[in-house]
Amino acid sequence: MRLLEEFHGAAMRLPNRVAMAPMTRGRADDKTGVPHPLTAEYYAQRARAGLIVSEGVWVTETGKSGPGIPGLATDRQAEAWREVTEAVHEEGGRIFAQLWHAGRVSHPGVMGRIPVAPSAVRQAGRIFVAGGWTETVEPRALGEDEIGEVVQDFAAAARRAVDAGFDGVELHGANGYLIQEFLARNTNRREDRYGGSPAARIGFPLEVVAAVAEQIGAARVALRISPGNPENDIVEDDWKKVYSRLLTELRRYELAYLHVIDTPEAEALSYLRPLWPGALVANLRSEEPTSRAEGESLIEAGLADVVAFGRLYIANPDLPARFALDAPLASADHAVYYGARLDGYTDFPAFEPDSAKFACSARS
Ligand SMILES: Cc1cc2nc3c(=O)[nH]c(=O)nc-3n(C[C@H](O)[C@H](O)[C@H](O)COP(=O)(O)O)c2cc1C
Repeated sequence: MRLLEEFHGAAMRLPNRVAMAPMTRGRADDKTGVPHPLTAEYYAQRARAGLIVSEGVWVTETGKSGPGIPGLATDRQAEAWREVTEAVHEEGGRIFAQLWHAGRVSHPGVMGRIPVAPSAVRQAGRIFVAGGWTETVEPRALGEDEIGEVVQDFAAAARRAVDAGFDGVELHGANGYLIQEFLARNTNRREDRYGGSPAARIGFPLEVVAAVAEQIGAARVALRISPGNPENDIVEDDWKKVYSRLLTELRRYELAYLHVIDTPEAEALSYLRPLWPGALVANLRSEEPTSRAEGESLIEAGLADVVAFGRLYIANPDLPARFALDAPLASADHAVYYGARLDGYTDFPAFEPDSAKFACSARS
């Protein structure tokens, strides 16, 4: 099975091609942004993945998107993450921190301030704050000086991540958060050097990559993108121009990998793969979780080197082993995906062949 083969990239050697996709679980202390004590166990249980990408972690509190999301901006947060990285390494795994600024996809009810964005364009729809769903608010457009500060927030968080033992960082440029808000025409209406043409709109993402690469070395930096993904009210009708230009610029760095989310709306992967000679991690966004068969065909077709699995990892901590055994896959109730509850987090067991045989024979 291709998914279980080793992967040797220019910057990364992985024992298999099954990555755990970044997934917010909302279990951190909401006041301090410190990960929950069970977080180390949660990721250590999943350490047989070729690569773990952590849940999105805010680089500055203004960039926090919802309740219970952890940060990587204070010493206390970094200390707690050190326990996580040590636990994963003890189990033989590798873990990247996903660095996140939510941009306009936040709310004063989440982080106490008006959210910031490239432009003052309100997101259609509603947003989840402590206490339930509420109306979104109009964000404040970042001043030019402030943009430089946010770039530095990413660089400082990357430094903290590596100091806390992460093997690298993945910059969250997908799903309608700050980085993608600069790329998309409907959220970036700036008239300064960060807005307008595709060449201008890729300016902020490139500054973040450059600052983070300078801080920790390009080989430890990855970028996640979701071209054309309408999530969080993004409209990217010119995504081909924007992302081909972005990838052309990024080729000068030997990044750890590029992480592409392929959506039914855009089907960006087949367009972008020929433009990216480096390591590529792919993930599919659709109603059903990315499956083993889909992962196999992405690798067979040369569209991906590694495939990231999200929802399957919630209930199957030992996913590569289950793929190898063709074992049944467990599923998790949606209700446990996010939130302060502790069930549905570390309590999904690894597959035990004997008990499955017993369960089958008991049924027949
Ligand atoms: C509970 C949950 C939390 C998620 N949190 C994040 C996140 O923090 N960062 C991110 O880039 N994507 C996040 N995603 C998207 C996943 O990484 C992935 O793209 C999506 O689940 C589709 O992959 P799948 O079909 O394998 O689940 C999240 C998805 C789920 C289900």
